[in-house]
Amino acid sequence: MEIISDVAQMRRMARAWRGQGKRIALVPTMGYFHDGHLSLMRYGREAADKLVVSLFVNPAQFGPNEDLARYPRDLERDAGMAREVGVDVLFTPPAEAMYPPGYQTYVSVEELSRPLCGASRPGHFKGVATVVLKLLNQVQPDTAIFGEKDYQQLQVIRRLAADLDVPVEIVGRPIVREADGLAMSSRNTYLSPEERASALCLFRAIRAARELVLSGARSRESVLEAVRGIITATPHTDIDYISLVHPDTLREVDTIDPEARLALAVRVGKTRLIDNTLLSESLLCCV
Ligand code: PAJ
Repeated sequence: MEIISDVAQMRRMARAWRGQGKRIALVPTMGYFHDGHLSLMRYGREAADKLVVSLFVNPAQFGPNEDLARYPRDLERDAGMAREVGVDVLFTPPAEAMYPPGYQTYVSVEELSRPLCGASRPGHFKGVATVVLKLLNQVQPDTAIFGEKDYQQLQVIRRLAADLDVPVEIVGRPIVREADGLAMSSRNTYLSPEERASALCLFRAIRAARELVLSGARSRESVLEAVRGIITATPHTDIDYISLVHPDTLREVDTIDPEARLALAVRVGKTRLIDNTLLSESLLCCV
């Protein structure tokens, strides 16, 4: 595996691969890998001839009071994990190369960026869309792979690629969870043992919602009430949002007809955690 931090060198390598008729997969990340990241890489390994994983903690997607400075970083550990999965290139561009002096161009996916996380993190999806478009332009992959853990982000990126005619297939992959159900996240490292126990309420709420739907519930209020009850009964939690939305438009829906996304963001201590699940009339199995 090569670690490339120079953008021009990354471009040259990708161009050479394309010249040889190789299919390229890209997995964009901010590093501090866990099994969620690795599942995307394993998928990419199978889906293409060459696999590029980008590792860039993107300042443009962090708000002024967010955790950019303390976001966990460990390049050596990440490189070891990526090597083991069979990544061809770990692409680690420096911030000065991504946003040099004079930088002033941003892309904004307007409607999809507004609700849910967009409401409490203004500018976040503008930063995400901009960096992802830059990475897609730099690597020009055939396929780019993202996790459903960040469901709104996935929808924003799908829309971005479609609207701006980016010749790439955007693939969404399922959420990878810890054994007890907590969705894996680099930010889980912020949780104290007590908060880690509380954090499980997101998954418990999702499971309860799925069980409700399995037993016939279809209305927004019955589902949201159950979810809200579980979260508010858990110590150290503060609800940012609990929403039931159309899976494509992310607009709030009144009923599950025939399906809807339950999405939640909850602060546990100082750490903001998100999770989501598909609720469907044809829901047959458990999470
Ligand atoms: P990051 O949080 O590092 O996540 C990188 C990718 O891993 C994203 O597509 C995310 O959805 C996916 N992922 C994270 N946790 C996951 C889990 N538990 N199961 C499955 N997939 C998971 O998301 C970002 O970085 C950035 O916003 C980025 C897209 C790289 C742009 O800067």
